[in-house]
Amino acid sequence: SKPWTVPGLADAKREGRKLVMLTAYDNSFARAMDANGVDLVLVGDSLGMVVQGHDSTLPVSVDDIVYHTAAVARGLSRALLVADLPFQSDATPERALQASIALLQAGAEMVKLEGAGHKLEVIRFLAERDIPVCSHLGLTPQSVLKFGGYKVQGRDDAAAAQLLADAQAVAEAGASLLVLECVPSPLATRVTAAIAIPTIGIGAGPGCDGQVLVLHDFLGIDSGHRRPKFVKDFLAEGGSIAGAIRAYAQAVRDGSFPDASHSYSS
Ligand code: KIV
Ligand code: NA
Repeated sequence: SKPWTVPGLADAKREGRKLVMLTAYDNSFARAMDANGVDLVLVGDSLGMVVQGHDSTLPVSVDDIVYHTAAVARGLSRALLVADLPFQSDATPERALQASIALLQAGAEMVKLEGAGHKLEVIRFLAERDIPVCSHLGLTPQSVLKFGGYKVQGRDDAAAAQLLADAQAVAEAGASLLVLECVPSPLATRVTAAIAIPTIGIGAGPGCDGQVLVLHDFLGIDSGHRRPKFVKDFLAEGGSIAGAIRAYAQAVRDGSFPDASHSYSS
């Protein structure tokens, strides 16, 4: 099938086609995902935890993401490649531009950054310079010190209203895609209905326009961290790497993953 483009993402949302996303950090897994129905591949700063063995994503550098992005890019001919702007590389518009140039020159087609607030100016600055941006709201792991842990976000009325306003603001600032991490399903469904750009959920219920999982979680690999409730071991179900990827892609497209047991109801 044809390669994904950034405008194609909004088309998919309009036409009600679910988006299938996974993280990858190397060429071999990228090729397996590209060949087995994954639409979007994310070089996430989760690599700090699952590849490098840190307790958070804070130690990850732009050079780390560039290294893994280049390896992943060489494995993709169909899926769209998104790469994370790591901790504070997006602290100012100018820093974010320099980091984004490095990621796009390594083969990324979109950069992802966490938060709204002062990041709205960063999103606008990048989007105006034709750098496609994916926003990430809800449980933003780069804010772990402020949050005091990895916790579900948007649970009370005020936090839910703020998240909805932030989602509308990032879309208005020029983001093309929005990851929602660890938010109650009803809120993620409301956010998805309120904006024209696709939402990609992780621990955000079945009402999003697509889903993403971290590779190691999706394969049932014990990364030494607590396994959240939204994680499902697709290797157990699929029987092989290719089978796991196909089972995940099908489950996302037919709406059977995530189900209530892999979501937060409130
Ligand atoms: O770094 C990452 O893997 C991510 C996903 C969990 C969305 O940001
Ligand atoms: Na990330």
